[in-house]
Amino acid sequence: MANALAKRFGEVVAVDDVSFTVGASEVLGLLGPNGAGKTTVVRMLTTLSSIDSGSASIAGHDVADDPDAVRRVIGLAGQSAAVDEKLSARENLELFARLYKLAKPIRRRRIADLIERFDMGEFADRPASTYSGGQRRRLDIVAALVAEPLALFLDEPTTGLDPRSRAEVWDAVRSLANEGTSILLTTQYLDEADQLADQILVIDKGRTVATGTPESLKRDVGRDVLEVSLLTDDDLQSARRLLASEEGVSIDPEDCRIDFSITGGTRQSLDVLRRLEDQAVNISDFQLRRPTLDDVFLALTGSSADEPEEISR
Ligand SMILES: Nc1ncnc2c1ncn2[C@@H]1O[C@H](COP(=O)(O)OP(=O)(O)OP(=O)(O)O)[C@@H](O)[C@H]1O
Ligand SMILES: [Mg+2]
Repeated sequence: MANALAKRFGEVVAVDDVSFTVGASEVLGLLGPNGAGKTTVVRMLTTLSSIDSGSASIAGHDVADDPDAVRRVIGLAGQSAAVDEKLSARENLELFARLYKLAKPIRRRRIADLIERFDMGEFADRPASTYSGGQRRRLDIVAALVAEPLALFLDEPTTGLDPRSRAEVWDAVRSLANEGTSILLTTQYLDEADQLADQILVIDKGRTVATGTPESLKRDVGRDVLEVSLLTDDDLQSARRLLASEEGVSIDPEDCRIDFSITGGTRQSLDVLRRLEDQAVNISDFQLRRPTLDDVFLALTGSSADEPEEISR
């Protein structure tokens, strides 16, 4: 739980008045562009960075007053990997387990379980320096799980991974949440937040710009759009005349397409299509486009989240 968290670095206000609660089995998606303050929030909650004002607690332990107790119940997979390149996955995990002072038999069993569960057997015994990006990321996350944390922090867990590795990380996050772990996950990918998060907090320049479920955010910001492609320019002109009195119509002559802002769901879409059909307007294609989190992000921050800024990192 975070309450009015704030942090500045000199002139830079990195985090300003951010609050949220994450329950057991819940995934909170902290979403924002580069420099939004995501990592700073994670660092404050995981005791790596001091809190300027506001407060935070995890499983009843205050982060500022009792950092040791907090460290015992959390796991963190940060943006920069914490693994030793010279050691294998098994050895790295062993190191983490010793750090948490787990007894030897427990250590052995838990590491073997994790390696099997996260399908790391194939590479678990060679040095981490030989791993692919996806294998390394998996080791990062598994290392955060050695102490069976109640709260797990994942800072951009899938940045730079291919679609298959991302899907594997997503599966792991889902199953951990199902087992009762509270998860705070930062991401710049809207589809990732959409897939995994129960609640989303959108931050930009340190400030909260929106909160809600993926569904509620999409509902509040975007409308469904029915996109109808016409066969010829004549068809487009007929459609334009036929629907001139409708609201929320926009014409895209280049793509020979007409877009309708739909407020009445499937029924209204069917009605529009039927009217075109009745007048023998030739439709080449149509689709009902639901608002995406990208529309939400654009509306809230004035920039797209998946934009190329990332390259400059
Ligand atoms: N140790 C520091 N000293 C000075 N400024 C800092 C420090 N750490 C973060 N900042 C600044 O605070 C702001 C928020 O940074 P933060 O790393 O939290 O962003 P982020 O949302 O994690 O971005 P990214 O998506 O690039 O990881 C940025 O302007 C950053 O330059
Ligand atoms: Mg970051």
